[in-house]
Amino acid sequence: MAKKIALSGVKPTGAPHIGNYFGAMKQFVELQDEYDFYAFIADYHALNFIQNAEEMKENIIGVLLDYLAIGLDPKKVTIFKQSDISEHTELAWIFDTITTMPYLKRAHAFKDAEAKSKEISVGTFNYPMLMAADILLYDADVVPVGSDQKQHVEYARDTAEKFNRIFGETFKLPEAMILKDVATVPGTDGQKMSKSYGNTIPLFAEPDEIKKCVMGIVTDSGDGIPKNVYAIHNLLRPASELLPIYESKSGKYKELKEMLIEDLENFIAPMREKRKKLAEDVPGALAILRAGGEKAKKTASNKMTEVRKRIGVEL
Ligand code: AMP
Ligand code: TRP
Repeated sequence: MAKKIALSGVKPTGAPHIGNYFGAMKQFVELQDEYDFYAFIADYHALNFIQNAEEMKENIIGVLLDYLAIGLDPKKVTIFKQSDISEHTELAWIFDTITTMPYLKRAHAFKDAEAKSKEISVGTFNYPMLMAADILLYDADVVPVGSDQKQHVEYARDTAEKFNRIFGETFKLPEAMILKDVATVPGTDGQKMSKSYGNTIPLFAEPDEIKKCVMGIVTDSGDGIPKNVYAIHNLLRPASELLPIYESKSGKYKELKEMLIEDLENFIAPMREKRKKLAEDVPGALAILRAGGEKAKKTASNKMTEVRKRIGVEL
């Protein structure tokens, strides 16, 4: 029986943090044996935020090295970059034509941007349609993401349904796959861990960086258990192991933080060292990206031929 298809993407907007890892990327590694997995670099999504060629290039290579360092095996996973497959933007346009403005205005990401009264680019407004194209081109069954992306996957599903209704059965309906116990990883201040809040612990942090981040965790608990320290620690060790320790060291924040620093270092060090090795051979990593792109292109262009026939532009 053919394997089910899983697909996910990460925007090349800078160094990933442990929230990205525990919320989404860890699942990629776990799914690569069971699924036919596509992991891509969402560079055209990132263009909404990164408008500097040097930075873009550096970030793209960054995500590629991140994927390999966390343990994605290019023999099992198709690793590619969105901008290499022009079908993504082509299909996004077609989706734009069957999508209404009021529907897109309901997207959380758009509403957040609007609430902050930012000047919103058309690209940001259309973001869910490009993401729908990313997913639907490959007939993905599941989309492993953090909980903040759930609505975007629903947009993809709705768009597939709408297209199928208008033009005939073409797209598979995808489902988001979200790790229940770590739906949202909290940052060092207890809010959602996010680059834009400055509360992250980088996934490939050096020892002194880990120390600085952990020492900065806000400890404002009344009952002796520093809840922000515990929440991050709980990503690395189960409650059954942690609770007795936290109870026996009640109120001893410094000791608990030192334990967390040690556990984080043990968890991060092997990936960090692997990433450094990979970074010594960027051409080798880029060859992986090229090979993945060739494979993705075949799948995407077959699908696009079908779409073009459906809408009546293939004569
Ligand atoms: P981004 O860097 O925004 O492209 O996010 C990459 C992936 O990490 C997405 O699937 C997000 O849902 C996930 N993610 C980002 N921040 C968190 C967080 N604090 N907790 C859980 N998942 C997250
Ligand atoms: N929107 C996702 C994020 O911000 C990145 C992304 C783009 C994605 N296209 C995708 C994730 C397709 C899963 C599937 O994290």
